Amino acid sequence: MVLAAPHRSRGASRRSVAGEAPARLRDIEATRLQRWCTGLPELDFVLGSGIVPGSMTLVGGEPGIGKSTLLLQAAARLEAAGRTVLYASGEESPEQVRLRAARLEEDAGAVHVVGETRLEAILDAAQDIGADLLVLDSIQTVYTELLEGAPGNVGQVRECAARLMRFAKETGAAVIVVGHVTKGGGIAGPKTLEHIVDTVLYFEGEATLDHRLLRATKNRFGSVDEIGVFTMTDHGLVPVPNPSAVFLAARATGTSGSAVTALMEGTRPVLVEVQALAARSGFGTPQRVATGLDQRRLAVLLAVLERRGGLSFADLDVFVQVTAGVRLTEPAADLAVAAALVSSVHNRPSPPDALFLGELGLGGEVRPIGGVERRLVEAGRLGFRRAYLSARSTGQVAGVRLVGLDHVEQLVQAFAA
Ligand code: TYD
Ligand code: MG
Repeated sequence: MVLAAPHRSRGASRRSVAGEAPARLRDIEATRLQRWCTGLPELDFVLGSGIVPGSMTLVGGEPGIGKSTLLLQAAARLEAAGRTVLYASGEESPEQVRLRAARLEEDAGAVHVVGETRLEAILDAAQDIGADLLVLDSIQTVYTELLEGAPGNVGQVRECAARLMRFAKETGAAVIVVGHVTKGGGIAGPKTLEHIVDTVLYFEGEATLDHRLLRATKNRFGSVDEIGVFTMTDHGLVPVPNPSAVFLAARATGTSGSAVTALMEGTRPVLVEVQALAARSGFGTPQRVATGLDQRRLAVLLAVLERRGGLSFADLDVFVQVTAGVRLTEPAADLAVAAALVSSVHNRPSPPDALFLGELGLGGEVRPIGGVERRLVEAGRLGFRRAYLSARSTGQVAGVRLVGLDHVEQLVQAFAA
């Protein structure tokens, strides 16, 4: 139980609390950060080249997305590499975990399992077997006997998380906890949970599509921009080394309202398709629906196309979506969103081998973006032969013809022609 230490007078605290003496930074030995590779390259990549001993990671995601599968696979691979892993399952019985394990490509036979929900018992078990990694599935099912209240309530979640963090720091074992995601998309329980842990990973994707995205939203030991892509198969999750190909696989070329752009997901360019549909609206205010893109950004782009591009959306419902569950956060995707909209309004498909890269200013100007060359290389590799981008962009890639644009009007003309 964490109780604030009773307030003491200064003299008394000096005598009774023998803490570590402060040291100068330059005298502190630089310990090299050790990492354990899970053997799942996409997971290691998102973590920042493996699990850091003594760290605590939270993996959030909707039910059924594959959190338990991912962690069981990582556990199996770590055991195979000589690490000791305890998989504490409060969600499912050990028999159910075994059934899942039987489906996997990996042999998870060596992984230790307990079907426990009492935190104390879990920590004891981890210590008994000398676990290098403790996987707790999930934080909402465990409770500490020291607190009143059912598992999953705010106090329990916070206290259990704090105890697990202390366990990790004291023993040097790594801890990974699964956290449920609420309807709003956040991890259920107190926000402090995300503040306590070292790393927060979200596992997401369309439950109906087979691929899954793993992304870090917080990482004390790595970058937060990287994504890992997996496909859910009958034998567990399989890393996808080439996400662009998967994201574009379902693309219907030859249909209007589609445009491809290249996003930088961390250090990797990833090609995604933006789809737009502008349809005559029924009554009242036309609808604006954006999926995978900020609603306000869509409003801005529509206004720019109206005022600077001469298109009217006044009596059109507008739907924009990004395929494959990807989110557009970069302004670099503006031009692709605009192209998809123009293509839909004119009912003319964009060339199947065309890529759109650029930010749109309020004056309708097409602005250059960063990382053009890396994006073009990825596009070229996937068969894209021309790129519409700011005329002020620099960067050349063999095999990709650049079509420079100064103003959104030129984009509109390109589709009207
Ligand atoms: P699961 O890991 O239980 O998800 P979570 O822990 O996030 O709730 O995965 C659930 C889904 O994945 C379930 O619908 C079954 C499916 N699945 C496969 O398609 N292939 C497999 O090899 C496994 C183990 C699960
Ligand atoms: Mg689960």
